[in-house]
Amino acid sequence: MEIPQKLLEALSNADHVAMLTGAGVSAESGIKTFRDPDGLWTQFNPSELASIDGFMSNPELVWSWYQHRIEIIRNTKPNPGHYAIAEMEKMFNRFTLITQNVDRLHQQAGSKLVYELHGNIIDNHCFQCKMPYKEEIDISEKSVPTCPECGGLIRPSVVWFGEMLPFDALCAADEAAQQCDVFFSVGTSAEVYPAANIPHLAKKSGAFLVEVNPNLTALSYYADVKLGEPSGVTFPKLLEEFKKYKKEN
Ligand code: APR
Repeated sequence: MEIPQKLLEALSNADHVAMLTGAGVSAESGIKTFRDPDGLWTQFNPSELASIDGFMSNPELVWSWYQHRIEIIRNTKPNPGHYAIAEMEKMFNRFTLITQNVDRLHQQAGSKLVYELHGNIIDNHCFQCKMPYKEEIDISEKSVPTCPECGGLIRPSVVWFGEMLPFDALCAADEAAQQCDVFFSVGTSAEVYPAANIPHLAKKSGAFLVEVNPNLTALSYYADVKLGEPSGVTFPKLLEEFKKYKKEN
């Protein structure tokens, strides 16, 4: 796999690099994506499992789904793509990492500042009074946990379809898209909005747009460079080439 010269040049002139990641960046860690042929949404119904209506009509089902996912994530480790991205954070004056993932593998790999656009699967909060419950909740002994404060149902702190994204994370993402010099879109089908709007905003704001994805997406046409290898292969290679380039130039 060749890293195009124009990408190495763009990175060496970059003061601010920003990145949006999706499920594909965790695929090589063994976590299924959502829309690939063997993706979660080809086997499960998102409106039943990842929506307010789904939770209200069957909270036990939704909780067992998230417990199932937490179990998988607990036994999962970051892959070389996560580690290389964590290293990139130290190589630029400004580096903004925005993720749609709820698995916290970026943080496990050492990324210090991660904006979680779709929340995370570890934290919980009361559906009614919003009281946060940061500790993991084990429901093995009882059906669905209720809030000691108001008696409301406790739910995972992930963003479900039709829900607002966390305001701070979305603002930080928009700001980074408008100010960055190079923007990476990694392992996302770029189909779920408003997250999918962010790479387009970066492109419109003059950033050099890079897509890392083995498949074509709704964004591929707009990318200045498309790297078609899995992110766990691409980023270690990119780091190696970029370090060499900086030494020689
Ligand atoms: N490296 C890079 N990209 C990969 C890899 C890999 N190893 N494996 C798969 N991909 C790509 C696929 O080609 C696909 O385009 O990752 C993308 C995953 O797309 P989706 O499954 O749609 O996941 P994502 O874009 O993160 O979904 C967005 O939708 O279901 C909701 O809230 C959920 O955050 C999620 C959002």
